[in-house]
Amino acid sequence: MLLGTCRVNKLNHLEIGGCDAVELAKEFGTPLYVMDENLIRENCRTYLNSIRSLHENTDVIYAGKAFLTIEMCRIIEEEGLCLDVVSGGELYTAIKAQFPAKRIYFHGNNKSYDELKMAIEYGVGRIVVDNFYELELISDLSKKYPAKNIKVLLRLTPGIEAHTHDYIKTGQLDSKFGFGMENGQALLAVESALSIKGLKLMGFHCHIGSQIFEEEPFKDAAQIMVKFAKTVNDKYGFNTREIDFGGGFGIKYLETDRPLPVKEYIHALVTSVKKCCQNYDVPLPKISIEPGRAIIGEAGTTLYTVGAIKNIPGIRKYVSVDGGMSDNIRPALYGAKYTALIANKAASPKEERVSIAGKCCESGDMLIWDIDLPKIDPGDILAVFCTGAYHYSMASNYNMLPKPAVVFVKNNTARLVVRRQTYEDLLSNEVYLPPAKKVYTASM
Ligand code: LLP
Repeated sequence: MLLGTCRVNKLNHLEIGGCDAVELAKEFGTPLYVMDENLIRENCRTYLNSIRSLHENTDVIYAGKAFLTIEMCRIIEEEGLCLDVVSGGELYTAIKAQFPAKRIYFHGNNKSYDELKMAIEYGVGRIVVDNFYELELISDLSKKYPAKNIKVLLRLTPGIEAHTHDYIKTGQLDSKFGFGMENGQALLAVESALSIKGLKLMGFHCHIGSQIFEEEPFKDAAQIMVKFAKTVNDKYGFNTREIDFGGGFGIKYLETDRPLPVKEYIHALVTSVKKCCQNYDVPLPKISIEPGRAIIGEAGTTLYTVGAIKNIPGIRKYVSVDGGMSDNIRPALYGAKYTALIANKAASPKEERVSIAGKCCESGDMLIWDIDLPKIDPGDILAVFCTGAYHYSMASNYNMLPKPAVVFVKNNTARLVVRRQTYEDLLSNEVYLPPAKKVYTASM
C-alpha cells in the first residue's frame, strides 16, 4: 500500500519523498519515524480547500495531539491552518514555534489554573471550555487580565459516538468530556458563560469520535448542534457565531479500509449545517473542523531493523524488530492493525506468513499478526505504514527504550527534526546523589 510519495525504486527499495528508506535507516538508525512532508502539506490543502470552497467562514484546526513538534507547528502555520492544543506542554511547543496566538484553540477536560493563565497571557484565539470548574477558573483569570479579550467555545456532548463502522446515537450523557445536552447542563453553561464579564462566548464545539468512515454521524452532529443554536437564540437571544465539529475523519491503515474522500465528509457536514440553519432560521455560523489523524497519519512510516526470528513449525514465525509498543502503542491499546513491507525487498514476491513482534517484555507487544512478506532475514528493514498519528505523540520509554528520531523527507532530501533519545536522556531527569564514599581505617 504505497501512499503519498512512497514508491519502489530501481534497487527494489522503498523510497519516501525521493529518499531511499534503506539509506535513511543507515544514516539515522532505527526505529525511525519518517514523515512525508509533501503529503502533510497536501492533506492540509485538501481540507482547507474542500471546506473553503463550500463555506468561506471556517477554520481548519490541526489537532496537535496526533503529532506535534516545532517543525510541525511551522508547517501547519505556513499552510494556513489553526492549531488545537490540549495541555501546557502542547501550548509551550506552539509558543516555541512562534505559532500565531490567535490561531490557537485550547482544549482539554482538566485545564489547570496555570495552563489557563499561560493560554490567556499568550492570547490564544479560543479556549474550548469543558466544564463548570473551568468556567470558574476563567472567570477568576478574566478579572486578573481585564485587557484580554477571552473568547470561548463551550464543548457539548451531542450523544453521538462514532468509531470506524461503529456508530451509535446513544443520547448518552456518560462522558468525561463537555456539557451534557440532554440534562440541561449545556444550557446552564451558556447562562453561566454569558454572565461572566470579560469572557466572550463565540459558540459551541463537539467531537463525535475517531477514524469515522461514514458521513451520517457528521450530518447528525450538524442537526443537533444547529438545533441547540436555535434553542439558545430563542432562550437568551444569543447568536451562535461559530460551531466547531471536532475531528475524527477516517484514514487508510489497511488496503481494505474505505474512508470517504475528504470532499464527501466536508460536503455532508457543511450542507447539513446550511440546511439546518435554514430550517431553524438561525444565521449561518463559522463552521470549523479539527482533523488530526487525517492530516498526519498516512504521512508517517516507521522503519525498523529485523533481529531475532523464531519459527515454531506448524504454528507461527515470530519476527522481532528493534522497536514495538514503546513507539507504537496502538495495536496493544486498541487492537489497531497495520500493513508493512520489507524496505530492501520492496517489490519482491511474498513468500511467507509471519507475525511482527516488538522488543518489549510483554507478550502483548505485537505490531502485526499474520502478514505475508518476502523471505525475511535479520538485518532487513521493515517499513510499517500509516504511523504518523498518535505514534510519536504516544511513545514511551517502556523498558528504557530511547524514543526514535523523526525525519522529514521531501524532494530527495531528509531533515532530522527530532534526534533519537540517548541513554543519557533516559536518566536526565533523575535526581540522585553519588553514593558517599566509605572511608576504611585500620581499626575497622
Ligand atoms: N478534536 C478533539 C476535541 C479531539 O478530542 C480529537 C481527538 C481530535 C480533534 C482529533 O481527532 P482525529 O481527527 O485525529 O481522529 N489515540 C487515539 C485517538 C484519540 C483521539 C482523541 N481525540 C488513536 O491513536 O487512535
